[in-house]
Amino acid sequence: MAKKKTVVIGFLGTVLDGHGKGSKRWERWRPSVDLCRHDDLQVDRFELLSSQKHYRTAKRVCGDIAEVSPKTTVKVHDAHCDDPWDFVEVYSMLFEFARNYPFDLTKEDYLIHLTTGTHVAQICLFLLTETRYLPGKLLQTGPGRDEGARSPGQWSTIDLDLSKYDQLAKRFKQEHRDDVSLLKSGIQTKNGAFNALIDEVETVAVNSRQPILLSGPTGAGKSQLARQIYTLKQLRQRIPGDFVSVNCATLRGDTAMATLFGHVKGSFTGATTDRPGLLRTADKGLLFLDEVGELGLDEQAMLLQAIEEKRFLPVGADTSVESDFQLICGTNRDLRVAVGEGRFREDLLARINLWSFTLPGLRDRKEDLAPNLDFEVEKNVQRRGTHVQFNKEARAKFLKFAMGPEGKWTGNFRDLGAAVTRMVTLATGGRITVREVEREIARLNQDWQGTKQDPGRDVLALVLSSDAIADIDPFDRVQLAEVVRVCRESRSLSEAGRILFAVSREKRKSTNDADRLGKYLAKFGLSWAQVTEG
Ligand SMILES: Nc1ncnc2c1ncn2[C@@H]1O[C@H](COP(=O)(O)OP(=O)(O)OP(=O)(O)O)[C@@H](O)[C@H]1O
Ligand SMILES: [Mg+2]
Repeated sequence: MAKKKTVVIGFLGTVLDGHGKGSKRWERWRPSVDLCRHDDLQVDRFELLSSQKHYRTAKRVCGDIAEVSPKTTVKVHDAHCDDPWDFVEVYSMLFEFARNYPFDLTKEDYLIHLTTGTHVAQICLFLLTETRYLPGKLLQTGPGRDEGARSPGQWSTIDLDLSKYDQLAKRFKQEHRDDVSLLKSGIQTKNGAFNALIDEVETVAVNSRQPILLSGPTGAGKSQLARQIYTLKQLRQRIPGDFVSVNCATLRGDTAMATLFGHVKGSFTGATTDRPGLLRTADKGLLFLDEVGELGLDEQAMLLQAIEEKRFLPVGADTSVESDFQLICGTNRDLRVAVGEGRFREDLLARINLWSFTLPGLRDRKEDLAPNLDFEVEKNVQRRGTHVQFNKEARAKFLKFAMGPEGKWTGNFRDLGAAVTRMVTLATGGRITVREVEREIARLNQDWQGTKQDPGRDVLALVLSSDAIADIDPFDRVQLAEVVRVCRESRSLSEAGRILFAVSREKRKSTNDADRLGKYLAKFGLSWAQVTEG
């Protein structure tokens, strides 16, 4: 087989290749010319990229190469850039060149000369070589140490395909692993679905500024993950501003708008000073709207505008203000259902759920209980400053319970955290023993009995069908259950009314407790007789 030809692709060095006047030029090191003077490097063809502007230098370099290396063919390509420091322009030009060049890897080897051209050009050449649009090795050249003797200097190649450069790729992988570990607070979780989810969260957190929606049951770790995402973005220089967090369930009534969007002095009673509002405080930072489903419809409309236009109108202001924030929303309810019920704007949901992640509850990742248990113990130890650990039997007993059918974990990490805190506190002598574990199991079992998951259902079941109960918001269910309980303990509607309206009745001129209570019950289709029978 014939020996492969060596083809160099490189820019004309407008400064270095132009050095020296007349015959003096032979005393100076000129990268493109000297590259063709090496005994151990036969350049068969030189693809010289040059702008028309440097026609004379290019012509002289061609002539000099012909003189020092008659076997080298030089082809000059017009590679004009209005601004050779403009990355997009240079990259596009080189990309086009690479796309159109008739590479023939069976007959030719390519060397991409990095020594000439602007730094931007060098970066572009590297990128195109790394991605194999330029299928060659990088070539670097430099002047010899002894300029006087006019050696052609030095040359060396870098083959990015060699395994030693895989080290670079490995570093990126390691970085990804570190990020993922940060998002998981260093806990070595084993659940495949959870790990895959965190993997994707990492990629999105580092590469995207778009809103993220975190959903999942209470205590699954949404708030914690939101904060960790912020920490990661900060660590990777993706976010200069602050982390601003608010639970939308606490934003009620008139002040909700002002809290979020700010207000100007005097815009309503009590507005004695200007207030920036949380959206503006989060400018250049990250806003975490927890329980976003609880946001009122007016606030939702304003929020959508603020996300889309990065501008909004504070309460009482004439001109809008700017804020450029990244957004994470948390929710433990299904927002699609809320949309169906007219409680959540469909357009807002579409905007905030581009990246939507549902955190599984602990019951769906039982294999992660052991690492999380150890993590919680360690957290307590750090907090208390005294050493505590499980004895072997106790740990096994707790895990068996935790991972078995009895382990309901309705409050997820909140339950686990509380359980460990209790055991650590009660442990004497630095050891959690079977005794503490048994007491804790009894306690958790009691906590998880019926009511926690579904407050009020037991009492309501005495007076309403299960279908009727399912039709009532959990919010109302708690209140109605308490009303029913009081009624059933009272002798008359009036007595129950006096107890239930104990505070407000004192402020009224005339009292109508029985009437108020009767109307309240009627809203749920209930009468005094129905509530108290049985
Ligand atoms: N991955 C985790 N590992 C260990 N502990 C965690 C993890 N995630 C959260 N926690 C802890 O569990 C508790 C509840 O977490 P968090 O507040 O993030 O839950 P949440 O999903 O936001 O709950 P809610 O819906 O009630 O707001 C916190 O004390 C938190 O420190
Ligand atoms: Mg939360």
